[in-house]
Amino acid sequence: MSGASEREANAGSSPTLASSQSAEPAWARRDAEMDRFLDELIAKMTLQEKVGQLTLLTSDWESTGPTMREGYKQDIAAGRVGAIFNAYTAEYTRDLQAMAVEGTRLGIPLLFGYDVIHGHRTIFPISLGEAASWDLDAIEESARISAVEASAEGIHWTFSPMVDVSRDARWGRGSEGAGEDVFLGSLIAKARVRGYQGDDLGAIDTVLATAKHFAAYGAAQAGRDYHTVDISERTLRDTYLPPFKAAVDEGVATFMTAFNEYDGVPASGSRFLLTDVLRDEWGFDGFVVTDYTSINEMVPHGYARNLAQAGEQALHAGVDMDMQGAVFMENMVNSVEQGRVSQAGIDRAVRRVLEMKYRLGLFEDPYRYADAERQQATLYKPEFLDAARDVARKSMVLLKNEGGTLPLAADANRIAVIGPLGDSKPDMIGSWAAAGDRQTRPVTVLEGLRARAGDGVRVDYAKGASYEFADEGKTDGFAEALALAEESDVIVAAMGEKWDMTGEAASRTSLDLPGNQQALLEQLVATGKPVVLVMMSGRPNSITWADEHVDAILHAWYPGTQGGHAVADVLFGDYNPSGKLPVTFPRNVGQVPIHYDMKNTGRPIELGAPGAKYVSRYLNTPNDPLYRFGYGLSYTSFGYSPATLSAASMGPGGSITARATVTNTGDRAGEEVVQLYVRDLVGSVTRPVQELKGFEKVMLQPGEARTVSFTLRPEDLAFTRADITHGWEPGEFQLWIAPSSGAAASTPVTFSITE
Ligand code: BGC
Repeated sequence: MSGASEREANAGSSPTLASSQSAEPAWARRDAEMDRFLDELIAKMTLQEKVGQLTLLTSDWESTGPTMREGYKQDIAAGRVGAIFNAYTAEYTRDLQAMAVEGTRLGIPLLFGYDVIHGHRTIFPISLGEAASWDLDAIEESARISAVEASAEGIHWTFSPMVDVSRDARWGRGSEGAGEDVFLGSLIAKARVRGYQGDDLGAIDTVLATAKHFAAYGAAQAGRDYHTVDISERTLRDTYLPPFKAAVDEGVATFMTAFNEYDGVPASGSRFLLTDVLRDEWGFDGFVVTDYTSINEMVPHGYARNLAQAGEQALHAGVDMDMQGAVFMENMVNSVEQGRVSQAGIDRAVRRVLEMKYRLGLFEDPYRYADAERQQATLYKPEFLDAARDVARKSMVLLKNEGGTLPLAADANRIAVIGPLGDSKPDMIGSWAAAGDRQTRPVTVLEGLRARAGDGVRVDYAKGASYEFADEGKTDGFAEALALAEESDVIVAAMGEKWDMTGEAASRTSLDLPGNQQALLEQLVATGKPVVLVMMSGRPNSITWADEHVDAILHAWYPGTQGGHAVADVLFGDYNPSGKLPVTFPRNVGQVPIHYDMKNTGRPIELGAPGAKYVSRYLNTPNDPLYRFGYGLSYTSFGYSPATLSAASMGPGGSITARATVTNTGDRAGEEVVQLYVRDLVGSVTRPVQELKGFEKVMLQPGEARTVSFTLRPEDLAFTRADITHGWEPGEFQLWIAPSSGAAASTPVTFSITE
């Protein structure tokens, strides 16, 4: 068995709820000296000072929400705030830190947080793009570099990873997560936590990570951001919670609540989520911060009569820190004095926050992260830029390649780059790009292709179309683009969505190409020239027409600072694409929500004759998606042998090893993500038609064959049973080792679990 397979198969059990007995993270070990120090400090603190430690405010450098509080510096100087976000650079964080340390009675240092989501200065592909690499080491490295850069600018704490499973392409925030799958998402959650936190929170180049948004934020009704979530506890536990549990198992230091309600209770007021599940079931030791003003929002939710009550509900539920709402700041002293909140409740939250400050080493030296020389020496290091380029090309997914259109032919002397994303620096880095430079540093597709094209190859650009919604129907730029297309050997159409059409508050009811891009694409295809569509976007778009008519499609997400170089690496064949989709691409928005691990229903379409009426289907669209979860092409081809099993059954404490031989049947070296899927045929509740339970990315030379093996134990097949307990059940299972999801991707073998 290969080591990687073993690691992945075994890791598969840990994201589950009941099966993991995770070791306590190193940072959570009791420290007698720390306890003494904090006892003494807390004993000296007034109630106002304590509430200050539970307050997080944004600086006025950036706005990541609807409110900005005037006078946050006065709040720092008055000891009314314990943490600041949206402030960075060694110089600025040092200045603010000095206000707290030198200007307040107890001199308690500030904690600086920031949304370092996919890079800090050197920007990597958006998180969904990174997930498409299925390369856990690369994802960990990206988080590591992000931590090194952010901490060199005074940041102690990132509001990442976003581990929300998302299955609705209308929802814009899917771009920030790892896609639709529980297993892949859980492993990526762990990789990111490891990358940010390393194994020592006290090291100056690591930062605290945050698992967000707890919980089920991705299940917003109709894909509309912040909308109601109404799902069963079983779906919550089997689909939305496992990546959070995985983050706890990996030792994540903090959690962020979600904006949505769960079971009628806003997440920031949910004792079920924040205490029963997070603390009591999972044993989480860090602190919980709310999302931006989400305590205040419990009033419009209709859960609290006023802000004071909302603050009390949040604290009782298990919130430790109030982000930006100033609800604790303005009401909590009164709530304690009137006996509605206990001193002990406040002390518990204060201790959790102060413990993190202690573990970061801030009481020893509050300025240890604010070092201008280190900052100067660290940002945009060449090796960081190289890593960003490498992750970017690993993230790209080749969706179509008719007749070997790609790599670009050696005799393509005139290349036309056409489309609004062909030469647009701001778009390359996507949303939530932290302190990333949007204006000058990003390498565009045009720049990347020009830098790579050999002597005598001309690469020209015409924008041609617009992605702005308002420009639908306009044709102003078409003539210029078509003239350029006619003179060229190949057209690279760089199209998709504007960078801020995904991310927060960026839901859509159409998944089509926005603006007038589709109309131009059709005219480009009509020229008869080969067309390569390079898609940039943060969600699955319905590119069904393109799939039928263009020659090649490469999905490049928003590929980051070095994105244009990475696109060139793939288009010229210097890198053989290896990405696989972490989300299902629907044919049209009407199929949404759609994901590979759906249930079979009582009337699956396969049971009817073609076109049969009384089966679960649409009248006008097939049930199958446009592209399946796990799908992606390469410039070479791979063959799979039938899967074999080490045994036909396993009992408690046992295991089964599944093997298949994968052969590179083409003539280029390439990487393949070999995927293991399982179906539990009968359960005490119905089970999905497939579930990913393992994968391994293997590099194969032409003609080379490799046997890939995965070991499964009964616990790896656990789920939330009829009685809401977590565990496996005896019975029959099907198993596939395949290049993508989908029952047609390979022939299953069967095994059983015995009692
Ligand atoms: C987002 C969070 C983010 C926070 C701070 C909120 O609007 O939902 O993901 O961490 O702002 O910027």
